[in-house]
Amino acid sequence: MNYRHAFHAGNFADVLKHAVLAQCLEHLKKKDKPFRYIDTHAGIGAYDLAASEAERNPEWRQGIAKVLSADRPSAVQDALAPLLGVVAAMNPEALAAYPGSPEIAARLLRKSDRIQLCELHEADARTLDNRYKRDARIKVDRRDGYKALHGQVPPREKRGVVLVDPPFEHRDEMAHMAEAVRKAIPKWTGGTYIFWRPLKDLWASERFDVGLAEWLFEENYASPEKVLRADLWVRDLESEGKLAGAGVVVINPPYTLEEQLLALLPWLAETLAQGEGAGWRMDGAATDESLTVEEF
Ligand SMILES: C[S@@+](CC[C@H](N)C(=O)[O-])C[C@H]1O[C@@H](n2cnc3c(N)ncnc32)[C@H](O)[C@@H]1O
Repeated sequence: MNYRHAFHAGNFADVLKHAVLAQCLEHLKKKDKPFRYIDTHAGIGAYDLAASEAERNPEWRQGIAKVLSADRPSAVQDALAPLLGVVAAMNPEALAAYPGSPEIAARLLRKSDRIQLCELHEADARTLDNRYKRDARIKVDRRDGYKALHGQVPPREKRGVVLVDPPFEHRDEMAHMAEAVRKAIPKWTGGTYIFWRPLKDLWASERFDVGLAEWLFEENYASPEKVLRADLWVRDLESEGKLAGAGVVVINPPYTLEEQLLALLPWLAETLAQGEGAGWRMDGAATDESLTVEEF
C-alpha cells in the first residue's frame, strides 16, 4: 500500500468529488431524521497543505487554490457552497489545510448522524482514529472497506451516503469496486452511493460505468434517472504524465445535483484547465444521453 493521498489533496479531482459529497450530505440534512455516512477508503481525514508531502507535489495549487481565487458566478458558488464552507472554517486566514472526506462529513453532519470510516493502511488508520476518537458520532475501523461494506448496509438509520474512493494502485481496482457494489446494493437500494474513479484506463472506467448501469436497470435496483455520471478533465485525456481526468458515478443522487453540476462542471473545466483539451461530461436524467463535452 504505497498510495498517499497527501500528494493529491485538494487537486481538481478532489474538488469535484468533495463538492458532490458535500452536496449529497447537505441534501440529507433537509429532513430531521438522522442518517449515516459510510466511507470505505477514508484516508487520514484532513491534510496540512504545507506539510512536506504536499509541498513536494503541490497539486492543490492547481485545484482548490484556483477555485478560491477565481470569480465564482452565483450558480457555481451555490454548487460549491457546502464544500467551501468547510474549507473556510478550517482556514480562518490563508489556505493551509484541506479536508478529506471524513472531515467534510465530521463538519457537516449533526449530533444525531453517524459516520463509519474504513482505512486499511495501519499508520493512516491510527491517524484517523486519533483525530476522531473524541467524536462519539465517528467509528474508525482498520479494515478492508470493500469487505466491510456488505456488513455495514443497510444502516440502522435507513438513510445515508456511501463513498467508495479507492487509491487505484492496482489494475483490478475497478473489478473490486464492482464486486463490492454488487453485494451491497441489493441489501440497500435506497442509499446514495458515490463511486470515484480516474479517467486513466478509459476502457476500464467505461466498462465499470456501463456494467454498473446495465446491472442496476436489469435487476430493477435503480431506474436511469437515479444514476448520474460527472467527469472532469484538465487537459487532453491522452496526454502523458499526471492524472488528467476523473469523476464520479452517483446512484440515488439528490434531485438538485444534476442542475448544480451543469453549472459547476464547465466552470471547473475552464478554471482548472492545465493545457489543451480540458473538458467535462455529464450523463443524467435530464441531460442528453450523449456526452456533453467542451474543450478549452
Ligand atoms: C483516495 S484515498 C481516500 C481519500 C479520501 N476518501 C478523501 O476523499 O479524503 C484512498 C485510501 O484508501 C486506503 N486503502 C487502500 N486500500 C484499502 C482498502 N481495501 N480498504 C480500506 N482502505 C484502503 C489508502 O490507504 C488510502 O488512504
